[in-house]
Amino acid sequence: MQWTKQLETPLLAAMMKYVKDGVIPFHTPGHKQGKGMHPSLEKIIGRDTLALDLALMEELDDFHEPHGCIKEAQDLAAELYHADHSFFVLNGTTGGIYAMILTIAGPGDKIIVPRNAHRSIIGGIILSGATPVFIQPEVDYELGLAMGVRPETVEAAIKQHPDAKGVLLINPTYYGVATDLKRIVDLVHAYDMAVIVDEAHGPHLKFSGRLPIPALDAGADICAQSTHKIIGAMTQCSMVHCREGRINVPRLKAMLQLVQSTSPNYILMASLDVARMQMATEGSELIEKAIQLANWVRTEINKIPGLFSFGEEKIGQPGFYSFDPTKVTVTVKGLGLRGAEAERILRHEYKIQVELSDMYNILFLITLGDTEVEARALVEALRDMAAKHNRECDFSELDNACTCISHPAPPQGVISPRDALFGNTCTVAFDDSVGLICAEIVTFYPPGIPLLCPGERISREIVDYCRQLQRADLHISGPEDYLLKTIKVVD
Ligand SMILES: Cc1ncc(COP(=O)(O)O)c(C=O)c1O
Repeated sequence: MQWTKQLETPLLAAMMKYVKDGVIPFHTPGHKQGKGMHPSLEKIIGRDTLALDLALMEELDDFHEPHGCIKEAQDLAAELYHADHSFFVLNGTTGGIYAMILTIAGPGDKIIVPRNAHRSIIGGIILSGATPVFIQPEVDYELGLAMGVRPETVEAAIKQHPDAKGVLLINPTYYGVATDLKRIVDLVHAYDMAVIVDEAHGPHLKFSGRLPIPALDAGADICAQSTHKIIGAMTQCSMVHCREGRINVPRLKAMLQLVQSTSPNYILMASLDVARMQMATEGSELIEKAIQLANWVRTEINKIPGLFSFGEEKIGQPGFYSFDPTKVTVTVKGLGLRGAEAERILRHEYKIQVELSDMYNILFLITLGDTEVEARALVEALRDMAAKHNRECDFSELDNACTCISHPAPPQGVISPRDALFGNTCTVAFDDSVGLICAEIVTFYPPGIPLLCPGERISREIVDYCRQLQRADLHISGPEDYLLKTIKVVD
């Protein structure tokens, strides 16, 4: 394929041609290019956009068996990301992770995963019926954040579970921290296992030597990236990239088909095509600008008394091998604030919305969509917040509690997540659940790290830790009773 092809957007071009031809559409979607849509919505979206809301047909290719413009668009993505095959995914990296896990592991198969796995990984394990072997990431107690997993931790798990089908890694974490991926890939491959990477936060890594190494360049077998999170595609649009060898590609295709609709949204798909073209043509420049802007923001924040934004100085700490500076984490503990409080202040007093907050931190994503204007507004708002909201608050008790019970040891897995979920269950008071087997996921969100998974025995430590996080005002996601007064357990 010629590199000049990267300037093209074959999928969008085919869609535009279809619309331009003035075809009378006797096909889905039912709104018929907006004409049948209620005017309140039709006006907002606009007829030109709605005309592109198309359906599978010969000239627009087949999403699940592509051979025309969709295949061409995916092949261009594969070329750009140095993959053997790339696939568009329209239900986020969540869908990509489901498909990757379903490809690697079936019922009863073991898969090694870090405990700070996003809930979509737990979802994939439930769907596949696989048994997770959890490994602990390193933890920075000062920041209250999980870092990467160390190669030694991975190797120990492999030696204990040589029958595992693969190792799943996160590159980088939500907070931009990357582990020594290349070393881990080499050692996992030495045991002839597959390396699967959740690269939700890394579709831009490829475009700067100043960022952590991208999964495929490190030799990983397969990865899923949220093109929508960091670069220019629309929400829900992700890609899966893979290398041949350890990945059964026909099976991967079948699994992607299993977890996705038969009616793909063409506008979303076109946004992937265009995002790829944008990165191919201007990616390096755009990402360099974002890095520079983020570094400026970080430097300015670190001049504000009471605030701290970690950066490359942490490289070399356990689980911290390299760093993506476009993720700007601000620790607000020095102001006597919790992350959730700072999030609310910024939203309601300064009209600034963070990506997420946790116990002590707020996270800002600086992307190719930001300019100096937004960066300055952010720094000004933080400076003002620090001046107005600096209060005496002793976190030592909470700190002590966190150091002792933060990121508690993973609960013991007793049965597979799938068996727990689909077995007989009953509901009990959460405080009385110690010793019972959990039948749902308990995650504090963001950042979406499950504390309890189906099939795990609930410990006193976990119950206490959940209560601690609730008191810190973090939101629970996963359990039916989101106040966690009760929990579903295996009967
Ligand atoms: C680490 C990680 N993996 C996977 C996902 C799922 O990605 P998506 O929202 O694209 O489905 C997220 C979402 O926040 C995430 O943070």
